[in-house]
Amino acid sequence: MSSLHIKAVNKHYGDYHALKNIDIQIDSGEFLVLVGPSGCGKSTLMNTIAGLDQISEGAILIGDQEVTQLSPKDRDIAMVFQSYALYPSMTVRRNIAFGLEMRKVSPEQIAQEVDRVARLLQIDHLLERKPAELSGGQRQRVAMGRALAREPKIYLFDEPLSNLDAKLRVEMRTEIKKLHQRLKTTIVYVTHDQIEAMTLADRIAVMKDGVLLQLASPEQIYNNPVNMFVAGFMGSPSMNFVRSHLRSLNDGFAVELVNRDGERHLVPLPDRGKALSDWVNREVILGIRPEQIRQASDSPAGTYEGHLTTVLDVVEPTGADTLVVTQLNDQEVTARLDPESHPVPGCPFRLSVDLSKAVLFDPQSEDRIH
Ligand SMILES: Nc1ncnc2c1ncn2[C@@H]1O[C@H](COP(=O)(O)OP(=O)(O)OP(=O)(O)O)[C@@H](O)[C@H]1O
Ligand SMILES: [Mg+2]
Repeated sequence: MSSLHIKAVNKHYGDYHALKNIDIQIDSGEFLVLVGPSGCGKSTLMNTIAGLDQISEGAILIGDQEVTQLSPKDRDIAMVFQSYALYPSMTVRRNIAFGLEMRKVSPEQIAQEVDRVARLLQIDHLLERKPAELSGGQRQRVAMGRALAREPKIYLFDEPLSNLDAKLRVEMRTEIKKLHQRLKTTIVYVTHDQIEAMTLADRIAVMKDGVLLQLASPEQIYNNPVNMFVAGFMGSPSMNFVRSHLRSLNDGFAVELVNRDGERHLVPLPDRGKALSDWVNREVILGIRPEQIRQASDSPAGTYEGHLTTVLDVVEPTGADTLVVTQLNDQEVTARLDPESHPVPGCPFRLSVDLSKAVLFDPQSEDRIH
């Protein structure tokens, strides 16, 4: 396994600047997940790491070796991409075995290895078929099997589970996690799936418009996002953004929240440094996650329980918890409630908010205020 250094990489497609000065250093054995909206440059970055696409400026190093000019086959990378190219004339078995045959692995070992990954991916009954005789999800698993039958320096996975049904997807996610724990492989993994990103990653890289916005642990990305984009992108349902004013209160700070009846509440912001002083009496955007808004009677000690009365506009039971849509400061917010509280739409409701993990944003720049 190897480290991977993406060093000040730029990529232009004609006039289009697809990757803007991307700098990422990935440790040997690290699992990095790349996320970002469609078209932000994730696959472009993967293609440049693999050598399928040339970069315009910068360098790519695998271990200590610069590979910028090397062809894909000389980089010792195994990849599963969005458009998984299988060899159409070969059976599934040979598709998986091909890389091993090229490396002159013994036939017995190849047979063993093919059986192992085929069982893992639940495609052992498909080994004698050709790719054209498979469903999209089955093809994707064969492509995965082909990658997993090798031990390369680095694995690149570009949405490898996107064509699988929900149940298989969760199983495969667990398998990938186990694989990583067992082999300590270096992995770069692209996904649109929040849970996949949060559960698999050692670190998450959030991209937008060819720019790397934040590179940090899942916990950091979730709790300390650098700006409103990152905050809104990770987490489902999304973080609530409430326009409010910062006030000083006793020796600390508070945000102003207005309930349905127009009553103003100053809700203390616990444990904030003096740096917020510059923002007193100015408009800020309060970022608060749905699980930090609760029913007043149901909140842990230390949370603010003013009379934040409101009315529930929408109630959405999801099974494990119940999402409700209501209003704070005349703006829509979503709260995550215990289903046992049996919230009823249209009824008055008393909220409590836990601001210990709330984050504040500058309404102009949308950057986090520290
Ligand atoms: N060969 C190309 N020529 C010109 N523009 C390209 C080329 N390949 C990609 N692009 C553009 O570069 C941008 C980034 O594309 P990319 O495929 O990396 O996005 P992505 O983040 O992988 O999106 P998705 O989540 O939809 O897969 C897009 O705007 C795309 O249109
Ligand atoms: Mg892509």
